[in-house]
Amino acid sequence: MTPRSGGRTSRERSCGGQEHADGRCRNCTFLYLQTLVFLLKMYILFGVWGRLASLPRPGSSEELFEVSLWPNQTLVEFGQPLMVNCSTTCPEPGPGGIETLLKKTQVDKGPQWKEFLLEDVTENSVLQCFFSCAGIQKDTSLGITVYKFSESPQIWGSSLLEVGVAETVSCELAGVFPAGEVTFHMFLGDQELNPFLSWEGDTAWANATIRAMETGALELSCLVALGLMEQKTRQPVHVYSFPPPVLEIEDSYPLAGTDVNVTCSGHVLSSPSPTIRLQGATDLPAPGDPAWLLLTAREEDDGRNFSCEAFLEVQGRQLIKTAVTQLHVFYEPRLEESSCPSNQTWVEGMEQVLACVPKGNPTPALVCTWNGIIFDPEVPQKAAKNHTGIYCCTATNKLGSVSKDIAIVVEGLEEGISSSIFLIIIAALGVGVITIALYLNYGPCKIKRRRLRYRPKEGKEEESQLAAQQAEKCSPRNC
Ligand SMILES: *[C@@H]1O[C@H](CO)[C@@H](O)[C@H](O)[C@H]1NC(C)=O
Ligand SMILES: *[C@@H]1O[C@H](CO)[C@@H](O)[C@H](O)[C@H]1NC(C)=O
Ligand SMILES: *[C@@H]1O[C@H](CO)[C@@H](O)[C@H](O)[C@H]1NC(C)=O
Ligand SMILES: *[C@@H]1O[C@H](CO)[C@@H](O)[C@H](O)[C@H]1NC(C)=O
Ligand SMILES: *[C@@H]1O[C@H](CO)[C@@H](O)[C@H](O)[C@H]1NC(C)=O
Repeated sequence: MTPRSGGRTSRERSCGGQEHADGRCRNCTFLYLQTLVFLLKMYILFGVWGRLASLPRPGSSEELFEVSLWPNQTLVEFGQPLMVNCSTTCPEPGPGGIETLLKKTQVDKGPQWKEFLLEDVTENSVLQCFFSCAGIQKDTSLGITVYKFSESPQIWGSSLLEVGVAETVSCELAGVFPAGEVTFHMFLGDQELNPFLSWEGDTAWANATIRAMETGALELSCLVALGLMEQKTRQPVHVYSFPPPVLEIEDSYPLAGTDVNVTCSGHVLSSPSPTIRLQGATDLPAPGDPAWLLLTAREEDDGRNFSCEAFLEVQGRQLIKTAVTQLHVFYEPRLEESSCPSNQTWVEGMEQVLACVPKGNPTPALVCTWNGIIFDPEVPQKAAKNHTGIYCCTATNKLGSVSKDIAIVVEGLEEGISSSIFLIIIAALGVGVITIALYLNYGPCKIKRRRLRYRPKEGKEEESQLAAQQAEKCSPRNC
């Protein structure tokens, strides 16, 4: 008896005991019975067969039957169909079948088995195969694992590697499910790499850092696996050696006025030899030849950088390496009017320093004297009238020394302050007058410009070369 036939028979029975004299059910009884029938159908449909015949028939040996499912372990390619065979050892089985969320179609059956086609399998699920035998139901389940693994992995990364330089390469496998379960093995030559794995959606990646230790041709390979399935891909890699060019200055600390030869040549480990271009050199030497530049070192060249580029073509690719070196030119100390003025004004009562920065390489040491007393020019002084006078400063480095007289004039405090206040008041008045004029007129107006007064001592003009030279000679009285 199938569950459906069970429903039909129960309906036949429904009017059995309470059949009306005219052969028809009374309305209320009929509804009541219909509900009962419905509940019974549900009961049966939900497959609780065992409880219908609540007690097993005594003496039955059929409780020993088995239910089995073929295949018993399943990997299904994403979206593909799957055939399953649900069978039992029960000699005369009752209702049986499979329970699944997947779309199923029964394609065949025998007395002790049923074969189903499951379509469009796109996610992992568990299906149940059940049979009842003499009122006892047994079932067995099958886990369905869906996979996608049809594409080949792809290697991303440079096919050109420099010896000793770390590069990142990645191996990507698209269209794979479950992407999080893909394993990767990457090799550079026969050295196994230690990749970092990641995945998103149906793509999995492995990123590895590679560092080739010798030149030549190698192979980068990537092996991906999902369960027992494997795919492999390879990429040829060319390893080159190309250190930066060697940029040298014959004498890296020349004296001002001497000739220096700046040369740049390809590194011996570069192969083949690169072409060299030295910034400032006129001609481009043939590949393998050095480039050079002869110059007379001037003071201004101190700190100047020279740069040199090496060009090499490897596997059709232009590579460039650059070297930079700095020229240091030694020269005697100088006390220039711009950084060490010979006339300086201090304001009485203010903290003041003697402004004097010498030039020279190596950096000169500066010593100043006043009335024969050594005076530290870096320590601020509280300016007093009696600081007025001629100071003598001497700058010295290993190449020589130079001295200069510096006249300091200390101006009275009131004078300084009152003149500043006066200037501020004039400026404020000017701004105020302009603002009021604009405000009153709301239109274009002519404003008489006020001339601000400047004190002549502050308007210092550029010194002529001659004056500067004269100033650098100290008078014997001070130095
Ligand atoms: C299903 O399985 C049963 C029991 O193993 C077997 O006898 C039957 O031939 C199978 N049916 C198909 C279609 O393979
Ligand atoms: C500068 O050095 C290069 C390489 O050492 C040399 O070939 C060249 O003749 C030198 N130039 C001069 C002017 O000495
Ligand atoms: C030369 O290069 C150095 C760093 O390499 C830099 O500090 C310096 O400012 C450069 N000099 C000039 C003149 O550009
Ligand atoms: C410094 O002042 C003196 C006297 O006021 C003047 O003769 C001299 O030319 C000034 N020197 C410079 C460099 O301005
Ligand atoms: C300068 O004058 C101040 C007082 O204004 C005095 O204390 C100080 O000793 C004087 N310095 C010199 C060096 O004469």
